[in-house]
Formats: sequence, C-alpha cells, structure tokens
Amino acid sequence: MTLTAVVYDAAEIVTLEANEGNDGGRASASDDETPDETADLGIYEDAAVAIEDGEVARVGASGPVTREFPPENAAYAVDATGKSVIPGFVDPHTHALFAGDRSDEFQAKLRGKTYQEIMAEGGGILRTVRATREASDEQLLDHLLGHLDTMLAHGTTTVEVKSGYGLDTETELRMLDIIDRADDRHAVDVVATFMGAHAVPEGREADNYVAEVVDDQLPEVASQGIAQFCDVFCEEGVFDVDQSRRVLEAGKDAGLTPKVHAEELSHIGGTKLAAEIGAASADHLLHSTEEDIAALVDADVVPVLLPGTAFGLGAEYADARAFLDAGADVAIATDFNPNCYSQSMGFAASLSCVEMGLTPAEALRAATTNAAAALDLPESVGTLREGAPGDLAILDAPSYVHVPYNFGVNAVETVLKDGEVVSRE
Ligand code: NIG
Ligand code: FE
Repeated sequence: MTLTAVVYDAAEIVTLEANEGNDGGRASASDDETPDETADLGIYEDAAVAIEDGEVARVGASGPVTREFPPENAAYAVDATGKSVIPGFVDPHTHALFAGDRSDEFQAKLRGKTYQEIMAEGGGILRTVRATREASDEQLLDHLLGHLDTMLAHGTTTVEVKSGYGLDTETELRMLDIIDRADDRHAVDVVATFMGAHAVPEGREADNYVAEVVDDQLPEVASQGIAQFCDVFCEEGVFDVDQSRRVLEAGKDAGLTPKVHAEELSHIGGTKLAAEIGAASADHLLHSTEEDIAALVDADVVPVLLPGTAFGLGAEYADARAFLDAGADVAIATDFNPNCYSQSMGFAASLSCVEMGLTPAEALRAATTNAAAALDLPESVGTLREGAPGDLAILDAPSYVHVPYNFGVNAVETVLKDGEVVSRE
C-alpha cells in the first residue's frame, strides 16, 4: 500500500455521505441552512482525508486521521488550514471537442438574434461541423486537452464529451478516437458519447441521415468500442421523436446506453422518449411538463439541467424545483460548447442557485453524485467516502457554499486526481 496523499487540517471536508460516526451533517449547521439541506452532505469539520493507492482510505477528524496516516509519509502532504475540500466535480454533458470560433454569434445573440435564426443563416452547429472536418487530429486533440486543463483547474475530475461535429462516419470516428486519446493523455477522466445525430448535415434530409447514423456510423462506433453512450438532439426541426427513437434503439442494440437532448427549444416529447427507452439521462428539459417529470422519475432517468445554456441564450431556465419536488436526483452540467462557452461547474452551480432556486447543498449534489449517476459511474464517484477515488478539489474558502457564492471566480485552488496533485493555482 502506498500513501498517495494526506490533506489535513481542513476547515471542512464534504464527503457527500452521511456515514456513521459522523452526526449525519454539519456539526453546527449555520442558521440560514436547515440541517435537512446539509443532512446527507456528510461534512466533517477540522478534518483530514488520507488517500492510499489512489483511493480514499480514511476521512474524518484531522487528529485521528493524521495519527494513523502521518502526512510526512505521503507522496503529497497538503496543509488545508482554513480551506474546504469537496469531491471533484463530474460534468455529465459537454460538447468540448470542436474547432473554430463562434464568439461573433455571441454578439449576434446580444443584438437579439435567436439560436434558430443563426442556424438558418448557416451558423451554429453546422458551422462548427465545417471547422471540425477541416481541422487536423493534432489541432483537435490540442484544443480538447486545453479545455480539459481549464476544467481541471476549475475542479472537474470527470467529464463527458460528445462527438457530433462530424456528422459523417469518418469524422465521427475521428472525434471519438481523439476523445479516447485525450482520456489517456489527461488527468481528467473522459467518458465518450456518440452523437452522430446532433444535427442534419447540409443538403441532407433527416430520415435519410438517420438511416446513415443507424446503418453506417453506429456499427463502426460499436465495433471500435470507443463510446459508452448514444445521444440525439430530439428537437423541432432537427430529429423528431420517431427518428430519435430509431437512433437510440439502434444504439442500445449496439451496446450504447441512450441519452436524450430533450425539450431544449420546444416541447416535442423527448423527455417521455427518454423514460420509455430507459435512458441514463435526459438533458436540457427547459420545456418539460409535470407529466414528463413524473415519467422521468418513474423510469429512474437522471434529469441533467444546463443553466449555462439558458444563460447564454437569454432563455428561461428549467424548472429545477419541479424536478426536485417530484423526487428526482437532479444533476447539473456545463454543456460546454461553442454556443455555451463556459467550462466551469462552479459557474453552473452559481446559476443553479440564483436562477433555478437550488440550495448550495443541492447544487453540490447535482454537480457530484447526481452527475455521476447520469454517467452510470460507480456510486462512490462524486463522494469522498472510504473506497472512493481520491478525486477532490480544495477550495480557497472555509466552506463548500463558496462554490456558488463566489460567482464568476474560481474558488478551486488545488485539485487531486487519484490522490495526486494535478492542478494547483
Ligand atoms: O446542447 N442542443 C444541441 N447541442 C448543443 C449546442 C451545440 C452548438 O450550438 O454547437 C447544446 O446546447
Ligand atoms: Fe448539449
């Protein structure tokens, strides 16, 4: 056994688990937060965490943990006096692999253009497809690694990345191969999603393109074993419910777990499709109805809400409270893409609290354990319980509340992945 790291004397460590021996929450819950909100956060004050062979071996009061695991014996000994420790964020929805620059579309949107108008003029996804097809593998890999660096510095230790800016067999496979290479090369764990059905390519018709995705792209993707999920943009004017179902069923047959971009710009039934098909998650959900929400909860599909997208579009936010009230384990993600240009889960957490009414505790769960569930990851991912991966972020702040509270600023100072210090401010 190797003692990889000991992080000690932290003001608080949030384990995301109400384990025995802890009081089930914060020793002294602050006045404005009910014990109920922090109950299952499993917070230890004046705490330490020891990581052996990359996994959490012990977490608890600093004294006993450091006596059992002396920091001087660890490869990484981190004095966290005055700081707080949280599990690394899991970002369960991004389109982080692309080429080109669409900052001019940001300006156009500020002048009042809608996303659909920009698409109709040849901008949006299809513009990124053109740039991505033209870029070399090295350029694409370089861009993705750069974005992963930014994510890591902001506390993300696991991220999902979708293909979908290729829209032909060759480029979709190239994208998935680059995502795979980035996963090998970078400290951040990268989960790959095949999204050949992200848009209808120029000059094509949806039904005919769906046949290409199902008959040509999917079999190749499956035979190479380089994607875990299959996603589709189920949206008015893109892929309707029947077309989306065809893609996701074929994906399932090929061993890929479904995910759905549902009710982002309109309401056409993507949420119910996600429930019917047993998707791991349904994402966006700006226009989901109460009935949709009940169907998701019944089918145990994780709702992934993307407040940065609403922010960037100047659109309404998803009704997060309706999902929480219905008993859903709501997750949040950045949706990082050229139309939603933020790699920061902290910013997504701030928006979740201020614009969608989540408490900081709910936002933290949404960005860790619930996000891990949206990616079918083992239950320990997104926690700091014993046996969990040693993936954590140390905040330059005394409590986790500073993640959403310190909006627009990165509260994360140091990041450990499998117990190794991989990012430090
Ligand atoms: O999740 N909605 C579809 N896909 C992305 C947008 C991608 C783009 O505009 O390039 C999304 O918001
Ligand atoms: Fe998306």
